[in-house]
Amino acid sequence: MMNRPSVPGTYFAEMYRGRADPWHLAERWYEQRKYALTMASLPVRRYRRAFEPGCSVGVLSALLAERCDRLLSWDRRPEAVAVAAKRLASFDGAEAVHGVVPEQWPDGEFDLIVFSELLYYFDAEDRAWLLSEAVRSLAEGGHVVAVHWRHHVPEHAADAETVHADVRAQPGLTPLARHEEDDFLLDVMGRHETSTDAGTNGAALSVAALEGLV
Ligand SMILES: C[S@@+](CC[C@H](N)C(=O)[O-])C[C@H]1O[C@@H](n2cnc3c(N)ncnc32)[C@H](O)[C@@H]1O
Repeated sequence: MMNRPSVPGTYFAEMYRGRADPWHLAERWYEQRKYALTMASLPVRRYRRAFEPGCSVGVLSALLAERCDRLLSWDRRPEAVAVAAKRLASFDGAEAVHGVVPEQWPDGEFDLIVFSELLYYFDAEDRAWLLSEAVRSLAEGGHVVAVHWRHHVPEHAADAETVHADVRAQPGLTPLARHEEDDFLLDVMGRHETSTDAGTNGAALSVAALEGLV
């Protein structure tokens, strides 16, 4: 288990210096396939309002925008926001905006929050705060998706195992789906129903349950 201080903003400024897309998110088959798996894992066809902190150049954002009435994508780097905003220009309800978590968190309720290749930049305290904010702003029946690279990166504050253990242990969230392979972990969590008509403390609903198949 690795847990170091949150990665400073200067790291990201340096990553984007002279590089439009430092992680080659728009080019690599690795990313395309992972994005396809991420999108396929979303339990519902359509979301009302999604939040995607750390959107970079907006490649996953554009896929999310196809499935969301409204999408708010944030990044701390203005040059990334500018590229993401271009990618989202054809989607009426989607916007890429400058925003830095955990210092900032958007107002309002979301039914989807996506942490894609982001949480390993934060120390335990910041991760705990981000996950509690996610639960606090998640609509009943809403989903949190986390997807993170498993290999060692010296600059990261935490590894994927630690991050995903935190996500799965977060009070208020129930695991709905997990995809695990050598290179990355993907977890889909649903918000607990705090109470149901039957008076039970319900878990988040599976896709078959949502579709009335079980
Ligand atoms: C590895 S990229 C991931 C991009 C995208 N989520 C994806 O999966 O394709 C991480 C992005 O998060 C942004 N970022 C890092 N820390 C952030 C923070 N505290 N608040 C907002 N954005 C942040 C970086 O600028 C970078 O663009």
